[in-house]
Amino acid sequence: MTDRTSTEANRFDYHEELPADKERVWSLLQSYSHIPRDEIESHLRDIYFNILECLKSGGVLLDAGCAFGYILRQIAIDDAPAANLIGIDLQRGFLDLGYDLFKDRDTFEGKSLASDLLNPDDHSLDVINDTVDVSHAAALFHLFDWEDQVSLGTRQVKFFKKDAKQAMIVGRQIGTL
Ligand SMILES: C[S@@+](CC[C@H](N)C(=O)[O-])C[C@H]1O[C@@H](n2cnc3c(N)ncnc32)[C@H](O)[C@@H]1O
Repeated sequence: MTDRTSTEANRFDYHEELPADKERVWSLLQSYSHIPRDEIESHLRDIYFNILECLKSGGVLLDAGCAFGYILRQIAIDDAPAANLIGIDLQRGFLDLGYDLFKDRDTFEGKSLASDLLNPDDHSLDVINDTVDVSHAAALFHLFDWEDQVSLGTRQVKFFKKDAKQAMIVGRQIGTL
């Protein structure tokens, strides 16, 4: 492997420690949320562990716009029951590529649903209304204008169990493009 290739490959490695360019987020959590600096990392990790605990006790997580579904596989390998995981993507091909990539078409117990989250006439997702506790969306909201973002958020909320005690929407989006 050439130096250049190995440098590029390293960009996608898993890093045990969080990257150095975390300062702005750290400052915000420290100054705004008053979390002591040495507790920020465990605070963030606790949120993920709380989600895992929720799933282990029967909670359901949805990944909206999941593409290959790598988040779902990570959660499954972190010991949450895969049967409590749902992935939705507009492109059936991405869901299929996920099965090919992870070689788990016959073993992954989560649901992979191909559907348009923005189409109000698509009722194929109604079966998961009132079933979800945690809704994850990454690199999804920033694809849309404000109106569609509101529709997407509204759709996510419809998936929540009516009696969900700690319904949560989590993920990451880009603020500006
Ligand atoms: C930028 S990718 C992000 C994929 C993944 N969440 C990630 O973080 O790598 C956005 C994904 O959202 C899906 N998507 C876009 N519009 C959608 C819609 N209306 N309903 C469902 N999925 C949609 C795309 O097919 C694509 O897989």
